[in-house]
Amino acid sequence: RDLPKDLFSAIADLKRELNAIILAHYYQDPDIQDIADFIGDSLELSRKAANTEAEVIVFAGVHFMAETAKILNPHKLVLLPDLEAGCSLADSCPPDEFAAFKAAHPHHLVISYINCSAAIKAMSDIICTSSNAVKLVNQIPKDRPLIFAPDRNLGRYVMQQTGREMVLWQGSCMVHETFSEKKMVQLQVQYPDAEIIAHPECEPPVLRHANYVGSTSALLKYVQTSTSPSFIVVTEPGIIHQMQKQTPNKQFIPAPPLNNCACNECPHMRLNTLEKLYLAMKNRQPEITLPEETRLAALRPIQRMLEMSA
Ligand code: 13P
Ligand code: SF4
Repeated sequence: RDLPKDLFSAIADLKRELNAIILAHYYQDPDIQDIADFIGDSLELSRKAANTEAEVIVFAGVHFMAETAKILNPHKLVLLPDLEAGCSLADSCPPDEFAAFKAAHPHHLVISYINCSAAIKAMSDIICTSSNAVKLVNQIPKDRPLIFAPDRNLGRYVMQQTGREMVLWQGSCMVHETFSEKKMVQLQVQYPDAEIIAHPECEPPVLRHANYVGSTSALLKYVQTSTSPSFIVVTEPGIIHQMQKQTPNKQFIPAPPLNNCACNECPHMRLNTLEKLYLAMKNRQPEITLPEETRLAALRPIQRMLEMSA
């Protein structure tokens, strides 16, 4: 395979040629974050996808994120550098099983975390992300029973924050459930001045120790405003690249500290590479496509989310 020596400038050339925008999630490799036009959490990325004037969207993230961009932009070419970049959480909610689950709770409103397939979105009333889930649930009348899918950990966290009961689909993220409470407590002893910051996809025993819980962007903002000199970061360590860039004088300790923490890198997110991103732009594929009927049904709850969290 012929790859240009300077991938950064070759990608910049293709971006101009295609009138493309590169959107990246914080869990991407640092070089992908550095070449992106926009980096954000899931809500910010979907807002950006909804508003971009670019003709081509190159999504450096996982399948459900690029799919959301396509749902919002049916006439644009949406490229995902590696089509295999899935999500264990999205995969933990098969559409046929979810349809049966929903049928068993016919009066419930379905609120689904954006980390799910278009088929699940199509069966949902409202989509949420980790940054607006509490806000959206608080807007739903109290007497309305709720199903929350697919992440049981975010669901439990939202229940705790809102005081609302919800029927939870029992899905989880393979990355966030690997963090161990014991290792974190050991780290806390080692770094007594550090604050623990965690993503709500973590299990309750881990969240219990956190000084702050939030989406990737919320964690990034928190480290800028907190007076603490150091942080134990309990989420995918890709975010540390931005934390270090934006606050170079602070110290960030990935949890748990096993050999550069490669164990806690999301294997799906990390399938994307700069080389694959270049090839996707050059070949104009792999492209995200989905049936129009599914797209229209999935669009409705996404639009609802965008309106409710405006
Ligand atoms: P946010 O960036 O919205 O916090 O999502 C985290 C995540 O797990 C994405 O897959
Ligand atoms: Fe899915 Fe977890 Fe990876 Fe996010 S970190 S893409 S939720 S497997």
